[in-house]
Amino acid sequence: MGEKSRSKGGWCGWLLVLIVAAAIAFGIFVTIKKKHHASKGEAAPVPGPPGAVTKKYADALHAAMQFLDVQKSGKLVHNKIPWRGDSALDDGSPAKVDLSKGMYDAGDHMKFGFPMAYTATVLSWSILEYGDQMKVVNQLEPAQDSLRWITDYLVNAHLSDNVLIIQVGDPDADHKCWDRPEDMTEKRPLIQVNTSFPGSDVAAETAAAMASASLVFKPIDSTYSDLLLKHAKQLFTFADKYRGSYSMSIPEVQTYYNSTGYGDELLWAASWLYHATKDKSYFDYVTGKNGEEYANWGSPTWFSWDNKLAGTQVLLSRISFFGSKDTSNSATLQKYRDSAEAVMCGLLPKSPTATSSRTDSGLIWISEWNALQHPVASAFLAVVYSDYMLSSRTAEISCDSDSFTPADLRKFATSQADYVLGNNPAKLSYLVGYGDNYPKFVHHRGASIPMDAKTGCKDGFQWLDSDKPNPNVAAGALVGGPFLNETYIDSRNNSMQAEPSTYNSAVIVALLSGLVTTSSVVQSFT
Ligand SMILES: *[C@@H]1O[C@H](CO)[C@@H](O)[C@H](O)[C@H]1NC(C)=O
Ligand SMILES: *[C@@H]1O[C@H](CO)[C@@H](O)[C@H](O)[C@H]1NC(C)=O
Ligand SMILES: *[C@@H]1O[C@H](CO)[C@@H](O)[C@H](O)[C@H]1NC(C)=O
Ligand SMILES: *[C@@H]1O[C@H](CO)[C@@H](O)[C@H](O)[C@H]1NC(C)=O
Repeated sequence: MGEKSRSKGGWCGWLLVLIVAAAIAFGIFVTIKKKHHASKGEAAPVPGPPGAVTKKYADALHAAMQFLDVQKSGKLVHNKIPWRGDSALDDGSPAKVDLSKGMYDAGDHMKFGFPMAYTATVLSWSILEYGDQMKVVNQLEPAQDSLRWITDYLVNAHLSDNVLIIQVGDPDADHKCWDRPEDMTEKRPLIQVNTSFPGSDVAAETAAAMASASLVFKPIDSTYSDLLLKHAKQLFTFADKYRGSYSMSIPEVQTYYNSTGYGDELLWAASWLYHATKDKSYFDYVTGKNGEEYANWGSPTWFSWDNKLAGTQVLLSRISFFGSKDTSNSATLQKYRDSAEAVMCGLLPKSPTATSSRTDSGLIWISEWNALQHPVASAFLAVVYSDYMLSSRTAEISCDSDSFTPADLRKFATSQADYVLGNNPAKLSYLVGYGDNYPKFVHHRGASIPMDAKTGCKDGFQWLDSDKPNPNVAAGALVGGPFLNETYIDSRNNSMQAEPSTYNSAVIVALLSGLVTTSSVVQSFT
């Protein structure tokens, strides 16, 4: 049983009244609904506090969370990774700011602001929906702690109202070395966006990260929460007023994290700011002409570090499910919810509109590079949507002529999680440190070099080329994943498949938090 039911005396009584009232209301609802649908009217489980823990997902969540510690830069506090130490302590010095914190992006030592901010936003979202479930398995504090490690960095990276540092390190120089972060000697130049070289995508994603994190920290540290919200508002104004893609302003970023547009991030950031402030102007922003221009209603998309539309649609559905009448009745809001349902219908394997982008055994598969990012992010959205349905007692969604229940969505989500954890033709767990059989040649500098090695930038490449497994386990790393034919080459030089990333960790942490117990979402931030 969760903390909530134990700590609040009157809660159980109220729960009983609610259950009875809900059961009656639900009975009526199902009866009405049955007149239109000859189909299933089975009662959805009544939402409540966290239920029984599924050990498999609890173990996997515990493993996954560790990679966020592996990736930490700066002066480590209560370091839990034996082979990691302090690094990049002078990051930010060219601008006389402290950018030592934050997280390395992947197997290298770059700090890329665009995916790092997305990592923070997804982490915040998972804590907001599933913090009570994380708490039951002792993962809430580690999650908050990792989130703050990024937001501390983002606060310092926001030099002034309209200036944001979006990268630390030079990828060309960085990739010419194979060294431990603790021994790094490469120059660490900074790149910024500003009014002459705008980056609405990266600035708005950073605003989304700060706004969502402000909600996470509100009950714990209100001063910090206020600070984050202040930065979020300024960054959103900057992103909105000085429009442009950072990939156009600074073409060199296209090689790694090319942004294909900023409209999705503007809507995503405004949606988070609406949740964080309840200021109607943000709601009007997403339902007004910016929505018309950028929301691309009705066309399912893949949620990723580049495209936030599907996430925005699910997040805004939250208002449609739980919001007050003045917002939840908006016809434009309904378009977002319909779009979220189109995404869900695409994911459900038996839906008439199911996507055909799957492997033979059912893993969503969109791209060869970092293949697992899409199925895992999609499964997270599915479990969240399923829980919104449960909490609001919405029995089903329609996909053309068929209808599907929250249980169908959850089943899809568990199928993707189980695939990742080893239920796949290769019998391989793609989550390092989970199960008996996981990748041993992860493309990760720190993991590949023994702690006591005396090698530096150039001679360190012997560790990339070594035919021995990594001396250090990159615990919790979610690697890129399988080919379409469901094979995987466990080779350190295979960065397409064998490289993990912090944003992969954010989505797997989010998914596992949703699956770890059987409860539905807390309505913590309606
Ligand atoms: C604005 O950003 C661009 C791109 O990062 C940079 O080259 C330029 O120096 C910046 N402008 C100022 C005034 O710092
Ligand atoms: C980056 O994205 C833009 C916009 O979609 C596209 O025009 C450009 O070709 C892309 N660059 C690379 C290197 O893929
Ligand atoms: C690793 O991959 C890079 C880039 O594809 C290539 O240049 C290099 O020769 C490879 N090294 C080994 C040992 O295969
Ligand atoms: C699987 O696909 C990869 C990439 O297309 C290919 O290189 C490999 O040979 C295939 N393996 C099998 C067993 O078909």
